[in-house]
Amino acid sequence: MKEPKTIFACQACGTQTRKWFGQCPDCGAWNSLVEEAAPAVRPGAAGPVPAAGGATAQRYDQVETADAERLASGIGELDRVLGGGIVPGSAVLLGGEPGIGKSTLLLQMAAAVAGTLGPVLYASGEESVEQLKMRGDRLGLGAPPLYLLAETCLERIVEEAARVKPVVLIVDSIQTVFSLKLQSAPGSIGQVRAAAADLLFIAKGRNLPTFLVGHVTKDGSLAGPKVLEHVVDTVLYFEGERHHSHRVIRAVKNRFGAVSELGVFDMTGTGLRGVPNPSQLFLAERVSNAPGSAVLCSVEGSRPILVEVQALVSSGAYGTARRTASGLDHNRLSLLLAVLEKRAGLGLAGEDVFLNMAGGLTINEPAADLGVIAAVASSLRNRPVLPGTAMFGEVGLSGEVRGTVRAGLRLREAAQLGFTRCVMPSTNCAPGTDGGACEQVGVGTVAEALEALLG
Ligand code: TYD
Ligand code: MG
Repeated sequence: MKEPKTIFACQACGTQTRKWFGQCPDCGAWNSLVEEAAPAVRPGAAGPVPAAGGATAQRYDQVETADAERLASGIGELDRVLGGGIVPGSAVLLGGEPGIGKSTLLLQMAAAVAGTLGPVLYASGEESVEQLKMRGDRLGLGAPPLYLLAETCLERIVEEAARVKPVVLIVDSIQTVFSLKLQSAPGSIGQVRAAAADLLFIAKGRNLPTFLVGHVTKDGSLAGPKVLEHVVDTVLYFEGERHHSHRVIRAVKNRFGAVSELGVFDMTGTGLRGVPNPSQLFLAERVSNAPGSAVLCSVEGSRPILVEVQALVSSGAYGTARRTASGLDHNRLSLLLAVLEKRAGLGLAGEDVFLNMAGGLTINEPAADLGVIAAVASSLRNRPVLPGTAMFGEVGLSGEVRGTVRAGLRLREAAQLGFTRCVMPSTNCAPGTDGGACEQVGVGTVAEALEALLG
């Protein structure tokens, strides 16, 4: 009998079948069968056969790392999230919602790299070559040795990559690519995984840095293939609200640099432009002396960012109080409101609380707590935070204010943007820290913090 070219493997238990089933016949898991290329079995081979010319173990101190020098992407903010530039042979997955600017960024990067380092191949399964050119003209790319390819067949892309010999390969989007080895539709888990595996093999084998674009589903995960996240070296997420012009790129996984590093961009009529000083951007529209507004010194990766936290507390009309938070975890807000109520005696029961990180930024670090508390208390008492005051600090369940990391960095950023006081955990106060003209106001409890913030 003829051997089948593809098989279906259960992702839960590993059972292989020749036909697709809705339920795995072995373990009973639903929807777990995924098409895969049938493994080529050598006739007569009983176990794994060592390949001739395979890798041999090398002594640690004899491994050469000279070729691990990074390439400049030509976009400073992108280099920053990548950990200092593109690592040769690395595979980078760039995820984000449709229309956020993934193609724009990669096209800009492609042109910059092509202009300085050599040819770049941009394979797009979503746009035609003419559409890409039109976009490029809008971005003012000039005439670098940038090769465009409108193709969805993986084998063709690989062929063209062998012909063009690019220094960087871009595949926009991995979900549109299909391999001739499988019969399933492009975008299915089997196809995405096969395509990624082949591209990764080329990336490592030819030392060719490869950028893959991945779509994000409604629930915020990379469409279907969570599998991709652990095969690639770096996973970047493009975030931002469509209604704002600025965009943030965050590294969620990076084998070659710090995670949670941020790159901030502004979407303009002529493409994405890096924002070297994001604090200025996020504070640009702040109305000082408004009740319910507080300035928080946050650190993302290695970079301090000042953000405005806004709160609005108003009496709820319908019995159950509403609490909504954007840019902050909802559970964290509930916890902080409970602390305010219990430890600082604020009457928040029955009040609606709306909280917003201005500018659409999302802050997950606990050092944001003090900013949230300040904004809520300020709105409830209808009294603005004392002028020129910034803050940071984690709040514990007993109402204590706990120290955080990188206090000096936060303090310096606040001083640089003209803040004269910084309310911070007393354990972080260090007289020698160079905070410029920024006075360190140490607090130990939430009650003390409110006293120092609102007077
Ligand atoms: P795009 O890069 O096509 O998004 P993705 O590849 O992530 O789906 O981004 C398109 C959006 O960016 C679109 O809404 C228009 C906007 N845009 C600008 O504002 N200025 C520009 O110069 C370009 C090229 C796009
Ligand atoms: Mg696109």
